[in-house]
Amino acid sequence: MKIGLLGFGVVGRGVYDIVADRDDIQVAKVLCLEDITLPDAEVTKNFQDILNDDTIDTVIEAMGGLHPAYEFVRAAMEAGKNIVTSNKALVATFYDDLIPLAESKGLKFRCTAAVGGGIGWLSEVERSRRIQKIHKVGGIMNGTCNYILDSMTRLGLDYGEALKQAQALGYAEANPSTDVEGIDTWHKVILSSNIAFGVSIDKAGVPAAGISRITAADVENFKAHGLVCKLISTGKLVDGKCSVYVQPTLIPQGDPEAAVPSNYNLITLIGQWSDRMSFYGQGAGRYPTAYNVVQDCQDILLGRGFYSPYGEKVTVCNDEKLCFYVRGGKDLPAAVAENWGSAVVTEPISVSAIHAWLKENPDAFIAAIA
Ligand code: HSE
Repeated sequence: MKIGLLGFGVVGRGVYDIVADRDDIQVAKVLCLEDITLPDAEVTKNFQDILNDDTIDTVIEAMGGLHPAYEFVRAAMEAGKNIVTSNKALVATFYDDLIPLAESKGLKFRCTAAVGGGIGWLSEVERSRRIQKIHKVGGIMNGTCNYILDSMTRLGLDYGEALKQAQALGYAEANPSTDVEGIDTWHKVILSSNIAFGVSIDKAGVPAAGISRITAADVENFKAHGLVCKLISTGKLVDGKCSVYVQPTLIPQGDPEAAVPSNYNLITLIGQWSDRMSFYGQGAGRYPTAYNVVQDCQDILLGRGFYSPYGEKVTVCNDEKLCFYVRGGKDLPAAVAENWGSAVVTEPISVSAIHAWLKENPDAFIAAIA
């Protein structure tokens, strides 16, 4: 396999290091805008050098962001090259374009590192759906949010301090609001649901609530009730109806998600035969992420393409009713069941209704009670 590597940052450099001594995969050219030289690969600042090199059969996109990553990936596909990417925003955003294109051109397109970093999550979803229906996917998919929430819970840090540490450790995206407002998790659960259920979810209907309004006082409140706050994604297929959402969720101490430390991820599927299967590990970072990029190259060498056939467009229906912890905001759309200090716990209210209310009350903090 001869590779054109787009980007030489955290992930690109990791890929280069891992394949350095392999005979089956060779990085032929690297697109990098900085002045570097590499012992075993040609470095170029011009994408056309990779596009026009007929000896390159596979492009690894490790640039991040939507543009020009999308234009480069699309052009490479038009030129007949297979794609490996860790870019969840790219795949989730352009799913309806890139996946049918890969199918129609008979190309291999893989993105295992896009969800769960080094965890073999999407490749396990692929294996799982060969022999069973998947009913539910989701869990802790963002290391930055888990790091912040864990530091607030275990070490008593306030939100700002914990976020600063997560940034200093390199877990957060370039714009950390992508992490803390739940957008990164939103991309990951939409992509996971598309693959698990064999559909293409209408993203506009999928709500995401983040953790940026949480305070140390909220965390103390949760502890007093034996609960731990985590940012949890949910994708479900029940009676042919898809439900997909992202929200802070209060988990009883002692449940597996409650115990996930630092920047780790814990992602779960519930299947027809397997029941609950959970996958734990490093959801971010150079070598864990690059590890799954190289695994995808191995899968392509074995002839494996995308994880599931491109499926029908579906609109989500989030009418499931849950109780929510709510602090702040006006004209709550549900009756109050309990007062928890300056916050309340509501009677059950649909996920769609509370998220619609949150849009009108963006300074409020909500957390579902699991
Ligand atoms: N910013 C992401 C996270 C990186 O914290 O999980 C991996 O997608």
